Amino acid sequence: MRDEESPQGPKPVAVAITSLSGAPGVTTTALLLAASWPRRVVMVECDPSGGDVAPWWGLRSSPGLATLAASLGREGVRQSNWDHVQRVGGGMEVITGVSGAAQAAAVDHLWPGLVSTTASMGADLIFDLGRCPGTRWGGLAEVCKVADLLVVVTRADLAAVSHLRAGRDLLRRLQEDVVLVVVGESPYHAHEIAALAGLDLLGVLPMDDRAVAAVRGEARRAGSFHRSRLFRVSREMCAALVSRTRDRALLDSEERPGGGCEEAQLAISGDVAKRPGAPKAVDCGAPVPPPMQVRVR
Ligand SMILES: Nc1ncnc2c1ncn2[C@@H]1O[C@H](COP(=O)(O)OP(=O)(O)OP(=O)(O)O)[C@@H](O)[C@H]1O
Ligand SMILES: [Mg+2]
Repeated sequence: MRDEESPQGPKPVAVAITSLSGAPGVTTTALLLAASWPRRVVMVECDPSGGDVAPWWGLRSSPGLATLAASLGREGVRQSNWDHVQRVGGGMEVITGVSGAAQAAAVDHLWPGLVSTTASMGADLIFDLGRCPGTRWGGLAEVCKVADLLVVVTRADLAAVSHLRAGRDLLRRLQEDVVLVVVGESPYHAHEIAALAGLDLLGVLPMDDRAVAAVRGEARRAGSFHRSRLFRVSREMCAALVSRTRDRALLDSEERPGGGCEEAQLAISGDVAKRPGAPKAVDCGAPVPPPMQVRVR
C-alpha cells in the first residue's frame, strides 16, 4: 500500500501480524495496537481458524469479513465497506473474522479483492493473520504482500527462537520487512532473542492481565488499560511502526534509478537497524498523538 497517496492526508499504513508457534498473543497485540493507534485504524481479523473479537466482546458474528466477502462484486447493491465494520465499545473498529475453517476456505480465493476493498477505506489497517500456516498461506499470502510490514509476535523462550529461525525466510519471501514483537519477560534479553532470530526487534510488550482484559471487553472500565505501562509501550510501538513504514517508503523511492539501492537492500536484510539513524526498538519514548478511546460496552 505504498504507491497510492491519499488525497485526505498521509497515506494509510497497513500492518500484518502473525506468529510462528504457540498462541503468543497475535490477536491481543493487534487489539492493543488498535486501541493505541494514533490515527483512524481498522483491525481486520483474517485468522483462518476463526475470529476471536466477536466472542470476546459479545458481538454478533455478522457483519464482518464474511459479509464483506459476500458483497464483493455484487452489482446493484449500494453498500459501504464501513457497513461491515463493528465498533468495539466506542473506540476500536473491527472487521470481525470468519467463524472457522469452513468459512475461511470459502473466502480464501477472495483475498485479493478483500485486500483492495479494505485498502480503499482510507483508514490504516491492522491485519490479524493468525499463526503462520507454513507454506500453505493460500489467499492470505496476498495480505502479507501488500502490507507495509509484517510483525511476528513471539514469547521469549528457546523453543520460540528455534521456530523463528526456521520460519523467518519463509515470511521474508512474502514480505521483505519483518519485525519482531516479544510478549512477556524472560531470562533472555529481547535483543538476544531478536539477534538469534535474525529479525529487527520492534519492542517488548509486558504481561498485564488487567490491561489486556480491558481491550478484550472483559473489564468493567477501560481505565486499567489507559493507566498501564502496557498502554504506554503499545503507543510507542504504534509510533515506531508508523515511522518505520515511512522510512521504508523513503528508501523505496530512493531505490528507483539513481538513488539508494544499497541502503534499501540493507534495510531488507535487517542490517540497517545497526546503522546510525536506523529505526530503533521502542524504548525511545517518542511523543505520539492522543490515542483512540477504548470504551466499555
Ligand atoms: N501482553 C499480555 N499480557 C497478558 N496476557 C497476554 C498478553 N498478550 C497475550 N496474552 C494472553 O495470551 C493468550 C493468547 O493470546 P491470543 O489469543 O491473543 O494469542 P494468539 O497468538 O492470537 O492465539 P491464536 O493463534 O490461538 O489465535 C491469551 O490468554 C491472552 O490473554
Ligand atoms: Mg488469535
